Amino acid sequence: MGIKTVAWTGRTMRCVDQTKLPERLVYIECRTPAAVWHALRRLAVRGAPAIGIAAAMGVVLGARRSRARSCEGFVKDVRRVARYLGSARPTAVNLFWALRRMVRVVETAATRNVRMLTRALEREAVCMIEEDNAVCRRIGIAGVRLLRVGDSVLTHCNAGGLATAEHGTALAVIFEAHARGKNIHVFVDETRPLLQGARLTAWELMRAGIHATLICDNMAARVMCEGRVDIVITGADRIAANGDTANKIGTYGLACLAAAHRVPFYIAAPLSTVDLQIASGADIPIEQRDPDEVRRIGSRWIAPRNVPVYNPAFDVTPARLIRGIITEEGIVRPPYRRNLATAVGKSTAAQGGCSL
Ligand code: MRU
Repeated sequence: MGIKTVAWTGRTMRCVDQTKLPERLVYIECRTPAAVWHALRRLAVRGAPAIGIAAAMGVVLGARRSRARSCEGFVKDVRRVARYLGSARPTAVNLFWALRRMVRVVETAATRNVRMLTRALEREAVCMIEEDNAVCRRIGIAGVRLLRVGDSVLTHCNAGGLATAEHGTALAVIFEAHARGKNIHVFVDETRPLLQGARLTAWELMRAGIHATLICDNMAARVMCEGRVDIVITGADRIAANGDTANKIGTYGLACLAAAHRVPFYIAAPLSTVDLQIASGADIPIEQRDPDEVRRIGSRWIAPRNVPVYNPAFDVTPARLIRGIITEEGIVRPPYRRNLATAVGKSTAAQGGCSL
């Protein structure tokens, strides 16, 4: 995409403020863990992999502010800031994966020198960016064979460069196909309530010169029924050990529609999004967000201000509706319980060690 969604400047976390897109491409600099927490909470930084990377940088910012002189005190401070950042959002497991990885750096370091521990944290956070770039490229390459020349893909929410450090997951597959001259067309679900599809995915695809058509979420059945969708590819926020997948609200409905119209439904995600600790989707925590996100579009009220609202940010697509999960280790197919565990076992990145 050519845009660094989240970056480390050496002193601050610099990120695109995604709430301002598509009108303006604005960057913000976070200097404290609290600034990172708020950026995560208000979705200035969003998308599972980007959330994890931003949180890792939040840990570095917290570590730099630690007054601890002893290694033990410093480790306690790092654990505290990690717990705090982990409270920003509950569903995307990349957040907890990244925070655990940062805590492990200080818990297992050979040195007890606080300054060297801080540098080790900084190196780990920067490594996560490089690793994410490499992983996303591999996802693109793994998935590209699913797309034939002239295919039409339907996607939901934003699983593009803006949801990762730079390259995207579901969109990495589309970018790769485009780079190979496959002349791909993409239907983009607008993705109510916060319109990540309309605001972010449509913007990214148009910048890349990819033929995109924006549809309201309730039009997906129509375009599938018209035979205009060859494949559905979305991202993921957390994949349970059995393959059940949490992603942006509306994904489950799309998967049902895809099954009804015999359209293959795929997930594209790094293996760091797989949570082998969670047996099935029933145990994935689902974020409930501010009711005003549904009562308004942007700053404009579209409903009575006191109407009761239900606003789950994610839903869970059962594994049986997922044809395959496109990862950096290739396309994982059913039976997911066995095959996801094997793929995670192969991936150094998913296990939380620098794979570069
Ligand atoms: O609430 P968001 O915008 O953080 O939700 C993001 C999604 O659901 C994405 O589809 C998912 O994280 C995949 S991102 C590569």
